[in-house]
Amino acid sequence: MIVDIVDIKDRFHEIENLFPNVFTYDSISRDLENNPFSHYLVYLLDNKIIGFINYYFIYDRVEIANFNILEQYQNNHYGSKLLEEVIMRSIDKKNITLEVRCDNNKAIKIYQKYGFKKKAIRKNYYHGIDGILMEKEMNNMKKDIYVLGIESSCDETSISIIKNGIEEISTVTSTQIDIHKDYGGVVPEIASRNHIKNVTIVLEECLNKANMTMDDIDAIAVTYGPGLIGSLLVGLITAKTLSFIHNKPLIPVNHIAGHIYANSLVEELKFPLLAVVVSGGHTELILMEDHYKFKKLGGTLDDAIGECYDKVARIIGLEYPGGPKLDKLAKEGKNTYNLPIPKQDNTYDFSFSGLKSAVINLVHNEEQRGNEINKADLAASFQKVAVESVVNKIEKAIQDNDIKMVIVARGVAANTAIREEVAKVCEKENVKLSIPDFKYCTDNGTMIAAAGYYAYLDGRVADLKLNSVSQDKLA
Ligand code: KG4
Ligand code: ZN
Repeated sequence: MIVDIVDIKDRFHEIENLFPNVFTYDSISRDLENNPFSHYLVYLLDNKIIGFINYYFIYDRVEIANFNILEQYQNNHYGSKLLEEVIMRSIDKKNITLEVRCDNNKAIKIYQKYGFKKKAIRKNYYHGIDGILMEKEMNNMKKDIYVLGIESSCDETSISIIKNGIEEISTVTSTQIDIHKDYGGVVPEIASRNHIKNVTIVLEECLNKANMTMDDIDAIAVTYGPGLIGSLLVGLITAKTLSFIHNKPLIPVNHIAGHIYANSLVEELKFPLLAVVVSGGHTELILMEDHYKFKKLGGTLDDAIGECYDKVARIIGLEYPGGPKLDKLAKEGKNTYNLPIPKQDNTYDFSFSGLKSAVINLVHNEEQRGNEINKADLAASFQKVAVESVVNKIEKAIQDNDIKMVIVARGVAANTAIREEVAKVCEKENVKLSIPDFKYCTDNGTMIAAAGYYAYLDGRVADLKLNSVSQDKLA
């Protein structure tokens, strides 16, 4: 597996010790701090560090500065894999250059195989030995990348093909809403069985619609978690089988990352980015400093906001899922009930269980006094504080992290008050706001393919040991 060195910060000293001819103590962190052009990729074999490549992105040029594979692992194509990865990441650059000792015929041959040409001799470059400057022109390399995305984490079997991370070529979704409606929620076993029934048909239709075959696909992205384990496994096994048969890279995608990347289909992401993930199971603020660099700023300490909406809705007699109905009712009422704004502190965390209890107590007290509750007013009062507690933290996160773009993702992104209030804060702070079109709010293969495209560019390729996980954290 190839990883970016910044993702294994705790292993810098290990790398320095393994390659003492290249590094001194702390030289990697000093280089990264002082040289924004410098990047390192590390080859991990069963989590063992066996080699690295250090390259510079200098505007439209790329320079390979250092390239090492531990001696006992040489001649196994690990070096080629690292080189391929740098070439792939340089696809939109002008050229890649490197220097090699003139007597290192083996390396020169490999570079030539990858299209590097000898350009100049650097006299005495290596203490008495000449160096050869080699260059690979990249201008004509830019090719379209097609990613197939497979989503099956809950009750939609959805497969999509997208081009270059942004252009939707074809999407086919089979939803099981009608099947589960009678049970008042998704029944996991029934969901898995239907995924099995549907997945090959959805795949075939998706390829037919795109007028493509698996040969045209560059990478296969799949949701591996979080979600219902049986449902996830159907998509995962499909992806693994396709990857194995057609020899295509398998890209693991976290479902929440998919919801965030759904926005990249609408407009280009700007970093640092704040992703607000709000649903029946999540209330999280995620900071992204770049593609695939997720950092959790904070989250709920108890109930998720959607869950709280649904519970409060039930207390006032609205049907499940009550969130959208409560949102609608709130519009007809006024903020007359005094409810506490949860977790007004200096953290990025949330808490909704206290607010939920406050509503329950208020309703009981009024009932005991024989007073009738004004449901619309209670809905409006609840909505005001619930939304305010989220929006206050969003504002703090924007100010603290120099945020350029805010994304609101998942079910509760449909809430009208959240949309309005976040829009106000973004306008005040001069930050771009992106909330996905409704069709990208529900689960779909398109968002998985979009997230998969950037994961692929980031070298996040899994082997066939990849497994599904029901509870997976993004950061
Ligand atoms: O992301 P999502 O579709 O699925 C899961 O959480 O699994 O989110 C669903 C949640 C439910 O709790 C639903 O009540 C809530 O999102 N929701 C809303 C609104 N629309 C959906 N909550 C408040 N206002 C809305 N307009
Ligand atoms: Zn989802």
